Amino acid sequence: MTELRAEPAGDALTSWRTYRLAAIPGDGVGPDVLAAGRLVLEATAAAVGFGLDWTELVVGGAGIDVHGVAIRPEDVAACAAADAVYLGAVGGPKWDDPSSAVRPEQALFALRGGLGLFANLRPVTIHPGLVAASPLRPELLEGVDLLIIRELTGGLYFGSRTEASSSPSSPPGSRQASDTLPYSDTEIERVVRLAFELARGRRSKVTSVDKANVLATSRLWRRVAVEVGAGFPDVQLNHQLVDSCAMQLVKWPAAFDVLVTENLFGDILSDEASVLAGSLGMLPSASVGSRRTAHGLHGLYEPIHGSAPDIAGRDLANPIGTILSGAMLLRWSLGQSDAAVAIEAAVSQVIDDGFRTADLWPAAGGATAGLTRVGTAAMTQAIVDRIAIRRPAPEAVA
Ligand code: IPM
Ligand code: MG
Repeated sequence: MTELRAEPAGDALTSWRTYRLAAIPGDGVGPDVLAAGRLVLEATAAAVGFGLDWTELVVGGAGIDVHGVAIRPEDVAACAAADAVYLGAVGGPKWDDPSSAVRPEQALFALRGGLGLFANLRPVTIHPGLVAASPLRPELLEGVDLLIIRELTGGLYFGSRTEASSSPSSPPGSRQASDTLPYSDTEIERVVRLAFELARGRRSKVTSVDKANVLATSRLWRRVAVEVGAGFPDVQLNHQLVDSCAMQLVKWPAAFDVLVTENLFGDILSDEASVLAGSLGMLPSASVGSRRTAHGLHGLYEPIHGSAPDIAGRDLANPIGTILSGAMLLRWSLGQSDAAVAIEAAVSQVIDDGFRTADLWPAAGGATAGLTRVGTAAMTQAIVDRIAIRRPAPEAVA
């Protein structure tokens, strides 16, 4: 492996800064893609002139194996103390026993809830070179640039639940379980407000997605969205029912700008939207709350894909979702937007240059001229090779 840390040169010495990052490789392909993402972040840091100080944590299924629990309070504390958290993926068949009291996914909920990360940002853009990788007709993908904002610490995921059991009132042998979907106005208000704020820097359109024809929480959601929207007269607000939105996302995705919705709807719609980008492996995410560090918003960054245990450790995973999550980390949590742009440009360049991981490889019969099939490591190296930081031209010395 190449040594990517470089000492800063010249006047950069005075402004050399080191950020503290928590790394959670997790399970399955998590360690594969997180190693790739770290390599790209290190290369970018060396090129720009800042340092990264990593604390690696054993969390998820790996945490269950080592510590008996998916995450320990001290792991959450280490994540809170870092400037940002970088995560691969957690979960896998080894820990899938539904009757088990410990599950890898508990780590995600402990982090989201424990760090107050109430907003999950999932941008979906389409690289022109990957249009053929999507099952949608090319003309439907033109102009697609949307941002899904999923509420992340409320709703069904955090509501009280009862596991399956037989109740005295039910027929013998039948079982019952329940989940609840609670939302308070303040929980809705803060995530919807973020949607409006972010829409201002984009195409100024917010689609609030709910199921107000059925759910009481959705009717509250809609009322709060209207109230918040009154403070943003320059931003257009639409309401859409989640079932209709699911249809519109594949029928006319370019019509959307910012979508904001509750936890489970956002989980489902963002996987659906990933199909537009050609592969789930392409998409990054940022989870943020309202806590700021000295450098930016505190947050957790991870690809939206899962742990894909079938391809773990085989140099097959697409690292781009994680690498683009690293760019979001630089922009949102470290205030290093030039570095973020450099990573995004390098990713765009590797696609232009024809590098494709297995998930992006054309289906049998598709055109492969000009394309190179690569694994995780070669894709990562190709991106590292294309990191270029644009510096202002040095002033002429008199
Ligand atoms: C996601 C994932 C998780 C979720 C799972 C792994 C619990 O699907 O981050 O979208 O449902 O939130
Ligand atoms: Mg999901």
